[in-house]
Amino acid sequence: MRDTTPQPIHLADYQPPPFLVDDVALTFRLAPTATRVIAKVRFRPNPDASPGHDLRLDGEGLKLISAHLNGAEITAQPDESGLTIPAQDLPEGALDWQAEVEIAPDGNTALEGLYMSRGMYCTQCEAEGFRKITFYPDRPDVMAPFRVRIESDLPVLLSNGNPASSGQGWAEWHDPHPKPAYLFALVAGDLVAASDRFTTMEGRDVALNIWVRKGDEDKTAYAMDALKRSMVWDEQVYGRAYDLDVFNIVAVDDFNMGAMENKGLNIFNSRYVLASPQTATDSDYASIERIIAHEYFHNWTGNRITCRDWFQLSLKEGLTVYRDQQFMGDMRSHSVKRIEDVLTLRARQFREDDGPLAHPVRPESYVEINNFYTATVYEKGAELIRMLQLLVGQDRYKAALDLYFARHDGQACTIEDWIAVFEEAAGRDLSQFKRWYGQAGTPRVDVSEDWQDGSYTLTLRQHTPDTPGQPLKEPLVIPVAMGLLGADGAEMVPTTVLELDSPEQSFTFPDLPARPVASLLRGFSAPVVLNHSLSSEDRALMLAHDTDPFNRFEAGRALARDILHAMVLEGATPGPDYLNALRTMVSDEALDPAFRALALHIPGQDDLASSLYAAGHVPDPDAIQAARTTALRLIAEALRPQLQDVANAMQTPGPYSPDARDAGRRALKVQAVSLLARADEGAKAAELFARADNMTEQLGAWGALLAIGKGQEEGAQFYRQWAQDRLVVDKWFSAQVMYAAPKAAAGLVQQLTQHPDFEWKNPNRFRSVIGALGANPAGFHATDGAGYKLVADWLIRLDGVNPQSAARLSTLFETWRRYDASRQALIRAELQRIRSQDNLIPISIDQNS
Ligand code: PHE
Ligand code: ZN
Repeated sequence: MRDTTPQPIHLADYQPPPFLVDDVALTFRLAPTATRVIAKVRFRPNPDASPGHDLRLDGEGLKLISAHLNGAEITAQPDESGLTIPAQDLPEGALDWQAEVEIAPDGNTALEGLYMSRGMYCTQCEAEGFRKITFYPDRPDVMAPFRVRIESDLPVLLSNGNPASSGQGWAEWHDPHPKPAYLFALVAGDLVAASDRFTTMEGRDVALNIWVRKGDEDKTAYAMDALKRSMVWDEQVYGRAYDLDVFNIVAVDDFNMGAMENKGLNIFNSRYVLASPQTATDSDYASIERIIAHEYFHNWTGNRITCRDWFQLSLKEGLTVYRDQQFMGDMRSHSVKRIEDVLTLRARQFREDDGPLAHPVRPESYVEINNFYTATVYEKGAELIRMLQLLVGQDRYKAALDLYFARHDGQACTIEDWIAVFEEAAGRDLSQFKRWYGQAGTPRVDVSEDWQDGSYTLTLRQHTPDTPGQPLKEPLVIPVAMGLLGADGAEMVPTTVLELDSPEQSFTFPDLPARPVASLLRGFSAPVVLNHSLSSEDRALMLAHDTDPFNRFEAGRALARDILHAMVLEGATPGPDYLNALRTMVSDEALDPAFRALALHIPGQDDLASSLYAAGHVPDPDAIQAARTTALRLIAEALRPQLQDVANAMQTPGPYSPDARDAGRRALKVQAVSLLARADEGAKAAELFARADNMTEQLGAWGALLAIGKGQEEGAQFYRQWAQDRLVVDKWFSAQVMYAAPKAAAGLVQQLTQHPDFEWKNPNRFRSVIGALGANPAGFHATDGAGYKLVADWLIRLDGVNPQSAARLSTLFETWRRYDASRQALIRAELQRIRSQDNLIPISIDQNS
């Protein structure tokens, strides 16, 4: 319960820091309940700020032992958020600050600042965790070199930068690169390293270490391989080399997010480091590859060039996500990766944009910055960069990035700095494009077409729906990549990029031999909802022939969506067109198995709720779930021989490899077996489960059984086999919740929270049990409100312990507006109950939303 209502912070109020920091020296005397931190900080007045400011240092939950300024003892006492030394008490010129504080990492369940995870010390400082370690101007535009001394009996003592010296019970580290405090890190524990070396293109010999608990050493090979490939890629594609003598990665079991890019000492949630074929699925391997790359790429986009303030978060996150997407495309398949990225964008970011938490890529104000690590800042931020690249072209994109690195290295920057390098490199005014950063909401693009005398005219209209607090929307620059197909599927007009920059625009293509089928928004060239009504014949043509793989996929998906809508709304059944198209596609050996696996997935429950709502209906989660079940059964029955052939054909001889080729074959096999389960009562799935020698097939087969109400015995066997492996036990919990029958879901979650392995303070475990309800929409939205109540109860309980994890869970409610009055009333009651206890949960439904 919090009694003070925190005030919002506004971008418009930004002021440069009155004092800069030239040097930081920290000493840590580690002890679980009484760690001493001695900080020596050299300040200097900022020539770019007005004179006469107080010295204000952030600090939270710190027990002040002593403080001195230029050798004189300080008498000022801290308040709840920091310490102020009034301007009139400050000596002229440089200031030598020294303070000793005491903190208790052992009781730190919020996992922010210095905390303990199963006997090991570690830190998390982004966004504002450093103020829980010592008094400091905890803002990203204050950058300084750090020297760190750690005193502890634990064998491995790590911090940022290069090792300086060490002895029995202590170690010193020096990070010469000026950095903001949010990139500070410290780790101490009884750890072992998997080690390797890398020579940069500049000739620097770098020691690479991945630190894990004893017993986990045999699960680091893939992360190390991904790290080395990331280092090579950033040199080759962006010309960026690593800049220290060591690069350390540590795997931690208790971590709120995926991972953190601390300079030279990346700290990872262990689920994004540890992998073996028996315990990790192919998609776990892909996540490890992506996140290892993401954190490594931050070394330049985030660390060397950081953010001026937290409003600019997408400057580092959008760009680094875009870079990891490019990397993954290069490592695997660009078209498959693009499809996956768009599915995630729609599932998470479009959903956010349509709800009470909608905000621009660069927000204008925030109350709690931790709630802005969102799909909008990350994934939509990456889409904006993809659009910039499309608009200026690859060569100019490269020139703009070179200019960005050359001009801003060592600085804390803004979105304006970013746009400026593109304007210069491309010689083009981007002021209208910049609206994308400030305007929330997903633009809608409506299409109308005209065909006359051999001339095809395409008219596009854009509008962006209102979002909370932002009713007025301006037209954006929307790049629409498109091509025209003939009735035989041949390309009449190859891909061109139209720039839609007014509310309505027409584009004419004269002298065509026949009426074309327009393939619009190829490659998903802009993060918009495209409303293009096409006949199912035209969609089937595109599914069979479009030269753009994304639109091929999209055509199949639109067909499936239309059918499922008709099933939900009118009780229709899938017609032969769709089933025939799917049948041809599944057996088309010219198509990448990974693509076929994706194309065999029909839209998910949440996706359908969203599209039904957008089409003006009130989605009924039970009807959606029932329609999907029927559709999957009908597909399975109609395609049974093809699915059997494909399941048998997708062998992966030789030792297990997580590479794109084998992973794609396994994905198709598992998807075929999952569908077949709906026609063969799970016979083939049970067989696959019994002989699976890798987690992808074992978990895939078990999920297929759970989805048809079977798999009890397999579940017990799975648990017995993996009870000792925390990451696999997470999977054991979440699979049961995801596939639980809607009416039983909340009860099952309740029951699982009584299981001895349910450690609710561990974020991964909490998410795998409570959070997994989000993957079972019909269960979460059960009409008796049991899902809502359960989530609200846990949210209230978790908020006092780990507010970041609690806030994340609250997004389960963000789609409340779609549902019927009775569900809305149930949700409203729960949200009011939550808000009466806590005002930091981001969701509210009473104003503007
Ligand atoms: N900066 C991290 C990343 O995107 C995410 C993160 C944010 C981790 C806040 C912890 C806390 O790579
Ligand atoms: Zn990041």
